[in-house]
Amino acid sequence: MPIDFTQVPSACFVLEEAKLRRNLEIMQYVQQQSGAKIILALKGFAMFSVFPLVRQYLHGTTASSLNEARLGYEEFGDEVHAYCPAYFSDEFDEMMRYCNHLTFNSLNQWDKFKTQVLHHSKKISCGLRVNPEYAEVDTDLYNPCAVGTRLGISIDHLGNQLPEGIEGVHFHTLCESDSHTLERTLRVIEGRFGHLLRQAKWMNWGGGHLMTREGYDLGHLISLVKEFQEKYQVEIIMEPGSAVAWETGYLTSTVEDIFDSKGINAVVLDISISTHMPDCIEMPYKPKVLGATDTVSGQLAYRLGGLSCLAGDYVGDYSFEQPLEIGDKIVFNDMMHYTMVKTTFFNGVRHPSIGIWREDDHFELVTQLGYQAFKDKLS
Ligand SMILES: Cc1ncc(COP(=O)(O)O)c(C=O)c1O
Repeated sequence: MPIDFTQVPSACFVLEEAKLRRNLEIMQYVQQQSGAKIILALKGFAMFSVFPLVRQYLHGTTASSLNEARLGYEEFGDEVHAYCPAYFSDEFDEMMRYCNHLTFNSLNQWDKFKTQVLHHSKKISCGLRVNPEYAEVDTDLYNPCAVGTRLGISIDHLGNQLPEGIEGVHFHTLCESDSHTLERTLRVIEGRFGHLLRQAKWMNWGGGHLMTREGYDLGHLISLVKEFQEKYQVEIIMEPGSAVAWETGYLTSTVEDIFDSKGINAVVLDISISTHMPDCIEMPYKPKVLGATDTVSGQLAYRLGGLSCLAGDYVGDYSFEQPLEIGDKIVFNDMMHYTMVKTTFFNGVRHPSIGIWREDDHFELVTQLGYQAFKDKLS
């Protein structure tokens, strides 16, 4: 049954449990058919109240900071991997406590920490992030291979041998990509790093594999994994964030005010686009609104805006079938990956609640963030 939004408060991020399970089942299929290991990138989705479900399907988590590593260790368990552009000396012991795989971003970083990690009482498998110098990404903001990038080691710094103690090769160059972009990337990587792959035990293909999007060619992905496992005798790891939570939930909001602003129907919602859906402004992109179309003219077109002082705190113009009224609910689609983890308390704006629409068709409120959460991050 579809969600009954009358049961969901406003404003609220609400995850649809059945849709999350569907995505996880696709990932389980990929793992079973290919032998790859899939872990959750916490930077993209970190709603730990649903980790008991995610844990039934995925092998663990990957972190990009000590905070995420601890969250993965305490709330998910199983394997905890990490990759950070830089690890800190005063955090590294704790990082090693939580993690069983660590990927280093540069040879400087590896030199700095290799003695500590190789002599640690627990076995930690170490890898290097490489820069394939190939990414099918249009904007530099999202291109890890742009000239002057700080992300990963290029082949001219690596030579013919993986450094002693390094067992894995990691790359991350995809973003909401299909398997054919992956294949083209892998062919470049083989050309540049093939000799190093033969020395590795594992290869981490990073995130950006949108295998839960309709039309994704799962068979092709599975054949690529099998090919690389066989050819290089490596374990293949993938660490998607977006694909796990793709189209699994919503942000509900309410119309607080509507007025004419020089011929445009300006709407003030009880959320803020810049603080609760920042990617809509940063990326930028225009999210889908349930029951509305993406058109920009006419009597029934409205400009949906938020509570912050930012003049551009609006998500765009939408047309509705009926005139909007104060008190109407507006529901934004696909708000689980990245959106939830990136919210802020700018302007002290009230944070949306967080809840789950359970598989047995009832709403469960998980948390309401109030004044204390706002105050805790101030001095
Ligand atoms: C190193 C690394 N791994 C995994 C991911 C997750 O990517 P996605 O959420 O696009 O699958 C990211 C995202 O930026 C990343 O930087």
